[in-house]
Amino acid sequence: MPKILFKPNDVEVEVPQGTPVLDAALDNNIKINHNCGGNCACSTCHIIVESGYEALNEMSEDETDMLDEVENLSETSRLACQVKAKSDIVIRIPETVDDFEDDL
Ligand code: FES
Repeated sequence: MPKILFKPNDVEVEVPQGTPVLDAALDNNIKINHNCGGNCACSTCHIIVESGYEALNEMSEDETDMLDEVENLSETSRLACQVKAKSDIVIRIPETVDDFEDDL
């Protein structure tokens, strides 16, 4: 079973192959925003893949369009609800405005 390491909290979870990264996070109490409920209709579940990017499922046109909305886009940005764990990956959950507001 593939392992997903979530940064910055350094929480590692093991999930059945094909599990969406968003589901893996939420099932393990790791916060990733998901305003559209995982339907590839927002960009709030933006993640940055730090390792294992090459082995991920291909990006759909819808995901590419949604990623265009992301402010801090990186070359390995993906949407957590669209990425399925096939092999071990390391992802970083970027800070969001929401997280900042939580700290106030
Ligand atoms: S939760 Fe909206 S695109 Fe992933």
